[in-house]
Amino acid sequence: MRIAVVGSGYVGLVAGACFADLGHEVVLVDNDAQKVAALESGSVPIHEQFLPELLERHQGSRLTFSGNLAKAVRASSAIFVAVGTPPNDAGEADLSYVESVAREVAGAINGYKVVVEKSTVPVYTSNWVRTIMLRNGAEPESFDVASNPEFLREGTAVTDFLYPDRIVLGADHERCAAVLREIYAPLTSGKYYQRPDAVPAPERANVPPPLIVTSAKSAELIKHASNAFLAMKISFVNAVASICESVGADVQQVCQGIGSDSRIGKRFLNPGIGYGGSCFPKDLTAFRAVARECGYEFRLLDEVIRINEEQRHRFLRKVRSALWTLRGKRLGVLGLAFKGGTDDIRESPAVLLVQTLLQEGCTVAAYDPAAMDRARVVLPANVNYVSDPYEAASGADALLILTEWEEFAALDLPRLRVRLKYPIIIDGRNLYHPETMTAHGFTYYSVGRQTTTPEVISSAGADSKKIKVKNA
Ligand code: UGA
Repeated sequence: MRIAVVGSGYVGLVAGACFADLGHEVVLVDNDAQKVAALESGSVPIHEQFLPELLERHQGSRLTFSGNLAKAVRASSAIFVAVGTPPNDAGEADLSYVESVAREVAGAINGYKVVVEKSTVPVYTSNWVRTIMLRNGAEPESFDVASNPEFLREGTAVTDFLYPDRIVLGADHERCAAVLREIYAPLTSGKYYQRPDAVPAPERANVPPPLIVTSAKSAELIKHASNAFLAMKISFVNAVASICESVGADVQQVCQGIGSDSRIGKRFLNPGIGYGGSCFPKDLTAFRAVARECGYEFRLLDEVIRINEEQRHRFLRKVRSALWTLRGKRLGVLGLAFKGGTDDIRESPAVLLVQTLLQEGCTVAAYDPAAMDRARVVLPANVNYVSDPYEAASGADALLILTEWEEFAALDLPRLRVRLKYPIIIDGRNLYHPETMTAHGFTYYSVGRQTTTPEVISSAGADSKKIKVKNA
């Protein structure tokens, strides 16, 4: 199948590389000539496992890059639209990029085409794309518009794409559903997974994935509702974590208890400093705006957003309660990305917290395995970027863990302790057991669990010192 993917951002680039790996001929179109040139020269603009390998494998053969949308449309049977849908001031998705792609596609049609929404868009977008294309001269029979939402997560984008929980095809006509079925056939038939060069399966792979064929409108809603539900799960557990802190319960134990109910599930029940990234914050406000436009006030979403914001303020209060005053305090910060495994800092709660701490007069030494270059662009120049977690801790009044990078969960604790001025760790991601931290001599603050501090007591008649865990 010949496929055009429009937009070389996160979703477009990953989709393009993966479609090529499924055996399709893909042209990835972007109107940013610099981006196209960089991709052609072999550079990989995002930090994503397996993406460099796939780009190298297919670039120049099954995967080409271009700035010429009309040419790409003429050469393709399916055109996946993966351009940005940023929020406007009212929180609604700005669909002007989608509209301009629809206009250009209409002008280039030379035979039956399927135009597929891949970006996250509000319900009714497929109707609008169709209307815009008809207004711009496309013959009604010459195209269909479908919705094929993408559920990949940053950091695991390639394996999420190739080993999805489900594939949703929102197609109002069988002719267009058939094209999409064929595109995904290597996955739904299971053939891709038998190939020796297939990208390795992640844990919990659902192979072969089920195909869910719906109307275009239902598919558009599935995407918004899925993200809203996942964000709701996170805010729910963050609210429960706050109650745990008040009553002295342990949110990890509570999550184990509630997540073991298969109707609830354990995933996306990790409390922390709130969700960030380029999807949840934007999609929640966009979904709320869509609902409002349809005459429904989705107040549940207001509360999900409010709890998420409150989570950062709670964390700041913890920093204050650990250090009393903030002006002049030196803080080590582990993590700037909005989550582990990515260099993306968009709507990162870590970055927002660092900004506030700097405003409060703290000095910050920060380390992130991938996101420091991007953070440099948005954070004030006085942040000291260091080359490892121990340097971040060096001489610090406290160490803050803000991103759930795996390597932050496996630190050499004795080495960390001697580097810190005071052995205080404020963990916004619950990466450690409080007992472990106190056993290593740290005062340890986390989310939804009691703060613990080692009480150093001398054993009678002996020089040796024992450390006893005390709940602060
Ligand atoms: C999210 C969805 O998970 C994807 O299914 C979806 O395709 C994507 O948005 C999108 O719409 O494009 P992503 O934003 O990459 O993916 O990252 P997530 O893994 O969902 O994490 C989002 C935020 O929630 C991060 O800040 C993360 O730290 C936080 N989070 C996640 C928690 O605080 N607790 C959790 O249990 C899980």
